Amino acid sequence: MRKLIAGNWKMNGLIADAEALAHEVRTQYGDHQPFDMLVAPSATALAPVASRLAGSQIGLAGQDCHAAPSGAHTGDISADMLKDVGCSHVIVGHSERRADHGETDEQISAKAAAVTKAGLIAIVCIGETEEQRNGGQTLAVCRQQLTGSLPDGASADNVIVAYEPVWAIGTGRTPSTYDVEEVHADIRQTLRDIVDDADSVRLLYGGSVKPGNAGELLTIENVDGALVGGASLNAADFMAIGQAATANG
Ligand code: PGA
Repeated sequence: MRKLIAGNWKMNGLIADAEALAHEVRTQYGDHQPFDMLVAPSATALAPVASRLAGSQIGLAGQDCHAAPSGAHTGDISADMLKDVGCSHVIVGHSERRADHGETDEQISAKAAAVTKAGLIAIVCIGETEEQRNGGQTLAVCRQQLTGSLPDGASADNVIVAYEPVWAIGTGRTPSTYDVEEVHADIRQTLRDIVDDADSVRLLYGGSVKPGNAGELLTIENVDGALVGGASLNAADFMAIGQAATANG
């Protein structure tokens, strides 16, 4: 499976910053790389970044969406609106949204369903907190989040799963190779009960992925790419992650 390196820019950068970063990413990616790439800018930068990436192979993602197609939901964005601005993917259920906005698996599943209904690909995020890991609950938590957050009709064509241990996000800490391998194998196994083409669903690892650890993290079995936060704000680091991930494969 081709690796996917996805950059989550979170709430960073004004339009000019996002345009400059998109331009650099596009220039460095060029036309041919052995891995796929996408970026998820802030909502206000989506349109300008879409024009910078037009005609390239780099995908564009929203960082969240509302479950409804339209209506009285002040401040929210629908999946159709994200499609309209040029998105191919939408991240749903990021742990920062679960924590900051109290999003539940049910809400995330409804958002993911809205994404797939709009014809886009949902990047569904799951992951345990440090307390849950220390309590030996990692696999149970991930299974529950996964089964609860996937949309009806999920398939390899419309869903990507991102495993992001909450304690590894933005901390510089990562799980051991063994731990990542164990969780990703379990996610794959859980998917087999839910999705017909489970073996083709892309599973991303996220949480402090950097150029220095990407080679190791992204060659673990069942790791089909990365969801990158901090390091995606630097085009050279972001590209180096893709290159490290594919250096031997
Ligand atoms: P990080 O963020 O790479 O800065 O740890 C990852 C994420 O939240 O997707």
